[in-house]
Amino acid sequence: MAARGLTLAYEDRTVVEDLDLEVPDGKVTVIVGPNACGKSTLLRALGRLLKPRRGAVLLDGTELAHVPTRRIAQVIGLLPQTPMPPEGITVADLVSRGRQPHQKWWRQWSDSDEAAVAHAMERTGTTDLAERPVDELSGGQRQRVWIAMALAQDTDLLLLDEPTTYLDIAHQVEVLDLVRQLNRERSRTVVAVLHDLNQAARYADHLIAMRAGRIVAQGPPADTVTADLVQEVFGLASVVVSDPVTGGPLVVPGPPGVRRQTPRGLPAHRRPIK
Ligand SMILES: Nc1ncnc2c1ncn2[C@@H]1O[C@H](COP(=O)(O)OP(=O)(O)OP(=O)(O)O)[C@@H](O)[C@H]1O
Ligand SMILES: [Mg+2]
Repeated sequence: MAARGLTLAYEDRTVVEDLDLEVPDGKVTVIVGPNACGKSTLLRALGRLLKPRRGAVLLDGTELAHVPTRRIAQVIGLLPQTPMPPEGITVADLVSRGRQPHQKWWRQWSDSDEAAVAHAMERTGTTDLAERPVDELSGGQRQRVWIAMALAQDTDLLLLDEPTTYLDIAHQVEVLDLVRQLNRERSRTVVAVLHDLNQAARYADHLIAMRAGRIVAQGPPADTVTADLVQEVFGLASVVVSDPVTGGPLVVPGPPGVRRQTPRGLPAHRRPIK
């Protein structure tokens, strides 16, 4: 997937202007950036929920606007930032809706649909919730149900807008591990918006940092996550150290000047990355 000269706007408010983007195939791409910088807007355009004002999103070289809708639903799964469940729908029914793009007019529901739904619920820990109405669930339970629905859709491309919102720390890690497994097992391409920079650094193969509708930096987290970038993108002073678990970059917010005051004698992995 790629975008060329993409301009996205809501009526007279231009959010993204002339943006070029390459989503690496079979990799996990994470988009980070401050509130209102255009992350969700971009993701919606990648999922064809928003029509570009100018430019285009390309799927295997074809303009998204020219790909049949049913084909898009078979290839691209999108989890919006604040999805709205149909009133009164149960968990099992909502997850089953993920199968719609795969159903044929002559056979509404197959064993493979059943299996995909059961599998998606199992992997997201939502099996026990099957008969519960979605609008009676906690925020975190609900979020896992939406993820189950996206999984049941079984697409090669997954677009996830803040999939860890509402989740406690253990469930956040569980969902991100699941995302990575999905990517590894079938070389699924994932594009996720995350707010936690350290989770982004851990789970991304390719990181895209946005600010005010522009891409400020992109590449592997080890090359992109620096104190300068955090300053430029979020206006936040920080120290970037080595993550004790992964060895990757770990952002620790800190007051201005902290970087300069760090003693030179510290071992390399304790020293901030310049
Ligand atoms: N439906 C809409 N109509 C008009 N303006 C919108 C609409 N949706 C978003 N915007 C505006 O577009 C800009 C970008 O919004 P977007 O939702 O893409 O930001 P975001 O980067 O996802 O932010 P957040 O981190 O808060 O989710 C904001 O200024 C927002 O107010
Ligand atoms: Mg958003």
